[in-house]
Amino acid sequence: MSRAFCRGTAGALLGLFLLGVGLLITALLIRTYTLTKPRVIWQGEGAQEATLGDRAIKQLRQALIGAVRIPTVSFSEEEQNFTALAEFKDYIRKVFPRVFSSSFIQHEVVAQYSHLFTVRGLDQGLMPYMILAHLDVVPATDEGWKFPPFSGEEHSGYIYGRGALDDKSCVIGLLQALEFLLERGYQPRRSFYIGLGHDEEVSGHKGAMKIVEKLQSLGVKLVFVVDEGLAVVDGVIQGVKRPVALVGTTEKGSITLNLTVNQPPGHSSMPPAETSIGILAAAVLRLENHPMPNMFGEGPEASMFEQLSREFSFPLNVMMANLWLFSPIVSRVLETTPSSNAIVRTTTAITIFNSGLKSNVIPHMARATVNFRLHPAQTVDEVLDIIRNTINDKRVKLSILNSFDPLPISPHDESNFGYQILQRTIHSVFSGVPVVPGICIGNTDSRHFVNLTNSIYRFSPFQLKPEDLGRIHGLNERISVENLKKVVQFYYQLIQNADSDKVPTADQDNHEL
Ligand SMILES: *[C@@H]1O[C@H](CO)[C@@H](O)[C@H](O)[C@H]1NC(C)=O
Ligand SMILES: *[C@@H]1O[C@H](CO)[C@@H](O)[C@H](O)[C@H]1NC(C)=O
Ligand SMILES: *[C@@H]1O[C@H](CO)[C@@H](O)[C@H](O)[C@H]1NC(C)=O
Ligand SMILES: [Zn+2]
Repeated sequence: MSRAFCRGTAGALLGLFLLGVGLLITALLIRTYTLTKPRVIWQGEGAQEATLGDRAIKQLRQALIGAVRIPTVSFSEEEQNFTALAEFKDYIRKVFPRVFSSSFIQHEVVAQYSHLFTVRGLDQGLMPYMILAHLDVVPATDEGWKFPPFSGEEHSGYIYGRGALDDKSCVIGLLQALEFLLERGYQPRRSFYIGLGHDEEVSGHKGAMKIVEKLQSLGVKLVFVVDEGLAVVDGVIQGVKRPVALVGTTEKGSITLNLTVNQPPGHSSMPPAETSIGILAAAVLRLENHPMPNMFGEGPEASMFEQLSREFSFPLNVMMANLWLFSPIVSRVLETTPSSNAIVRTTTAITIFNSGLKSNVIPHMARATVNFRLHPAQTVDEVLDIIRNTINDKRVKLSILNSFDPLPISPHDESNFGYQILQRTIHSVFSGVPVVPGICIGNTDSRHFVNLTNSIYRFSPFQLKPEDLGRIHGLNERISVENLKKVVQFYYQLIQNADSDKVPTADQDNHEL
């Protein structure tokens, strides 16, 4: 082979290589900048806005403050403050008189403390929808709070208290919106239900589930369900500067297990090589050291990042728009913080570890409780298999305390009525923020509604900054009055928007243009 030929081949290869790189970069950039922006389906006039004058705002603030002052605490599935729940019943009746006296709203108490409202629309041919919220809150003591958690103190534009975000602002915002609509003489075209559960924080088995049974016995089918869940987040997703609305189209499943080891008891002066505590500790450590597989790309999280791609700055935008190439890197990065790790995999949390009573006695039994939250691309059975293989020790007995699969993914395409109604309402209330589907890490009452609809959306209509996240179920929970107004505005417009017959088709769009 002559040298010239070699040089020629090398040159050609280099040329090909550069051409390849050039094509790749072009492909990445094309995809980055042409990845279809979610289309705005509904053009033109939407719902009428709520006019929130001083009187209305005062009424709203006081309604929430009064609600926070009633300590509707759920301590456990068995133990709730039933006095407070009963008081809440009288409270809403007093604060929202029009809701309770309207000729087309039927109110019933379900399971003693939960509420079901049936709002009859003018057009019985339209399939009804449902809005959910819950009355109960998690416990709180005064310690660490700027103001006592059930005092409903207002300070510098914020209302403080347990439930200010989760979920009394939604309960009150929703009823207040309906009260304002009724004040205006409004009656919906489309019927809808409002469900207010009283035990969401401890499973929803007594409240939401009874509401479902009731509706099911009436043969009700719902076009969509909206419950609490994700929100408009501002600065929460690293690399995204603008606020974006995340609508939960699924929620994680859960498994709670007890791991038990029984070994002969003995005296600490003559210990065996392995004790029940040692065996259990090793099993638990294996679970922690072998996290469940990273499922990034197998569930809806990939489409969330893809749809968000244009909100990231360079070079993250190129990476998010081209997950076909960058997903291995992105998934590794997401693993590094607990909050995003929870989006990419089934998480493992050891929550209780019990054994031993005396310092000189080797205990017979050691027991731990472990809670897994299941990624939407896995099932309870699959995860149990992995757990058994990881523990790989017959002496560790597994008993399942409770388990449920992740929720099916609700449709969120251009033709889905519920998702588009939400998008339309969110655009209007939150000045055009992008709306993207997401995974709800926590669970909601809406998970009990899968037999009534395939379109369940989890969205709390307020804006959250990173520092707000720790307040939910934490210290100094609070909502700004600005945010509270958004909540009312959201439900006020959602109810009107849902009066549309159906999603406009592309054809109709063109006519309008
Ligand atoms: C339960 O609620 C009532 C008010 O309805 C309150 O007086 C009482 O202290 C609460 N009990 C507990 C244990 O929180
Ligand atoms: C599970 O384990 C925890 C912690 O040891 C214990 O309190 C609980 O009673 C156990 N539950 C069952 C059903 O075994
Ligand atoms: C839905 O219906 C199926 C079949 O009737 C039943 O087994 C399941 O428990 C129901 N799920 C809920 C959440 O009600
Ligand atoms: Zn909640």
